[in-house]
Amino acid sequence: MVEPRKKALVVYESYFGNTRKVAEAVGVGLKERFDVTVVDVLDAEPSPGEVGLLVVGGPIHAFSMSRAATREEAVKQARALGVPVVPHTLGVREWLEQLEPSTTHLPAAAFDTAVKVGWFTVGSAAGAELSTLKAKGYDAQVRPQHFHVKDVDGPLLAGELERATEWGRVLAETVGG
Ligand SMILES: Cc1cc2nc3c(=O)[nH]c(=O)nc-3n(C[C@H](O)[C@H](O)[C@H](O)COP(=O)(O)O)c2cc1C
Repeated sequence: MVEPRKKALVVYESYFGNTRKVAEAVGVGLKERFDVTVVDVLDAEPSPGEVGLLVVGGPIHAFSMSRAATREEAVKQARALGVPVVPHTLGVREWLEQLEPSTTHLPAAAFDTAVKVGWFTVGSAAGAELSTLKAKGYDAQVRPQHFHVKDVDGPLLAGELERATEWGRVLAETVGG
């Protein structure tokens, strides 16, 4: 009998649309082995449900995951640029706080988007996301990953979407969907 394909859930937080694009590109890579759902953190349930892999991604805000004040600032800046964005009542930090712990060591991975300064990424949201996932019993599969934008509102640097798809493909292979 053919085993049904495992499911993967990708939860993202985004203001200017860059992290959403990365989440969707990661989903393309995961699709080779998983049935993938990509969902905005504002619409995500606090339980991942019957999935074989959970991926979480958000922008670096003030060196880590967003907070209420940085979210307000991001919404303000996005609106000033004419980007359609709804007020964010929570980000991945708060969603992860509410997330149901895993008793089965569900495979998980985390990424963020950031402005690259020279060769450096200033801060990390992905590291903090993954630490929270691990503290809740999830099983980290790969190292946290940064994807880079040119400026606060983007665009993503050349090749980042392709890199995100490749990261998703390797992640899917590692987990073995
Ligand atoms: C309030 C605020 C704080 C930020 N702080 C940082 C930071 O500490 N390090 C960094 O690399 N990028 C920082 N950024 C840039 C964001 O990472 C960038 O806006 C994000 O990657 C864009 O993703 P989005 O289009 O999905 O919102 C900040 C942006 C905002 C709006």
